Amino acid sequence: MKIVMLGAPGAGKGTQAQMIADKYNIPHISTGDIFRFNIKNGTALGKEAKSYMDEGKLVPDELTVRMLLDRVSDEDCRDGYILDGFPRTIPQAYALTGELGKTGDKIDFAIDVDVPDENIVRRMGGRRACQSCGSTYHVEYAKPRQEGVCDRCGGKLVLRDDDKPETVSRRLEVYHEQTQPLIDYYKKANVLHSVDGTCDINVVFADIVKILEG
Ligand code: AP5
Ligand code: MG
Ligand code: ZN
Repeated sequence: MKIVMLGAPGAGKGTQAQMIADKYNIPHISTGDIFRFNIKNGTALGKEAKSYMDEGKLVPDELTVRMLLDRVSDEDCRDGYILDGFPRTIPQAYALTGELGKTGDKIDFAIDVDVPDENIVRRMGGRRACQSCGSTYHVEYAKPRQEGVCDRCGGKLVLRDDDKPETVSRRLEVYHEQTQPLIDYYKKANVLHSVDGTCDINVVFADIVKILEG
């Protein structure tokens, strides 16, 4: 099962992708998390990505596509995976479709988590992310068992550098310009499904499971 999560920044892609990955035992691949991991470890890739991310812009396609295709060629991806934050531009979608097509493969489900911009701005200020594993929490809607500590790995929970209100608005603009067209792209490929992302986290999850289990 190969799944793509679509949706604005803060729509809940990461939250849902993690729950799906746990339920179906497939890897959760977030390009944003991979970039943040590289930034934290001071790699060359991290240094390059950071300058774009801090401004709320997209990291160039060339770099992102190479990194993602490399990741999905790993052994643990053989039986499927869930992509969170990729593709994010039409050229990225073409690159993925083309690569999968080489072996007659394709994306089975593209799930659009739909949340209006007004709700997003409110959500972002309360988000906390694990510095070590990328898991996401919310001070009100998704509290960790112990404040400031990741339930999954014990890592420290921090506010992301790109969650400042100015950067969030820039990310939303970029989303509408460059990523929203992917909804049509996957609609044409007959794999698009939408869920109402303003509902409670567990309700959104149940809706997605219904889609995946047809
Ligand atoms: P990325 O890390 O992908 O960020 P994003 O798309 O902006 O999305 P977020 O992670 O901010 O939100 P999310 O949808 O995962 O929501 P979450 O589950 O956390 O990318 C960051 C940057 O990296 C990009 O700006 C770009 O520079 C670069 N990048 C990454 N991929 C790239 C690519 N392919 N090409 C080029 N550049 C790329 O939820 C948000 C909050 O809401 C949380 O606190 C959560 O607990 C809470 N929440 C979730 N669901 C609900 C709910 N139903 N009700 C209430 N609260 C909820
Ligand atoms: Mg995310
Ligand atoms: Zn963690």
